[in-house]
Amino acid sequence: MPTPGPAGGAGYRAGPPVRQTSSVPARVLVLVSGAGSTLQALLDAAADPAYGVEVVGVGADRDGIEGLRRAERAGVPTFVCALRQHQDRGAWDAALTERCAVVAPDLVVSAGFMKLVGPAFLARFGGHFVNSHPALLPSFPGMHGPRDALAYGVKVSGCTLFLADGGVDTGPVVAQRAVPVEDDDDESALHERIKVAEREMLVDAVGRMLRAGYRVTGRKVTILRE
Ligand code: GRF
Repeated sequence: MPTPGPAGGAGYRAGPPVRQTSSVPARVLVLVSGAGSTLQALLDAAADPAYGVEVVGVGADRDGIEGLRRAERAGVPTFVCALRQHQDRGAWDAALTERCAVVAPDLVVSAGFMKLVGPAFLARFGGHFVNSHPALLPSFPGMHGPRDALAYGVKVSGCTLFLADGGVDTGPVVAQRAVPVEDDDDESALHERIKVAEREMLVDAVGRMLRAGYRVTGRKVTILRE
């Protein structure tokens, strides 16, 4: 990881592109809490050397989830760092940071990781940590993006990839995709349709970020041209 640049805002750092184009694949660590279909999309993309990314580790905040099994089937090392195994949130945050740091990732991807990381994690990975959210931020942040969008009655929702900071889904936007809301959608139908777009968005944006690099200017994230 390059030396971070000057402070760019709360909880993340502006700086040089994360990585210049290289023949060595970029190292991505993925954090999961559930089914891991988003992780699977990254694993599938990374199977093609032209994608330029290797998933070098998968971390979770709980055991027994399909996300971990997907990683194991792909031969990717995993770890579990559960909140309840630590004295408090600060200790958990420090332990998670350490578990991730030993993998030396160029980018950490939160793909359905249902925990907010803390100051230690952001000090180490801020600006190099992306999260995917199933709504068009800044609308409908939090745990229930699809449910909240339906309850509001919007006709278009979607997904957002952003550089995670200390807030709830508040960091600078990297990419977004719009998804229409259908009249007969329930929460699950809408979320599943959003997840299809989310997987495409994540694979596309993460690949370009790591192959070409990206710049953060205030809240504006620019992926450089390949
Ligand atoms: C995604 O919609 C993600 O944004 C949300 O949880 C879903 C993850 O699904 N927070 P999966 O575990 O990758 O299948």
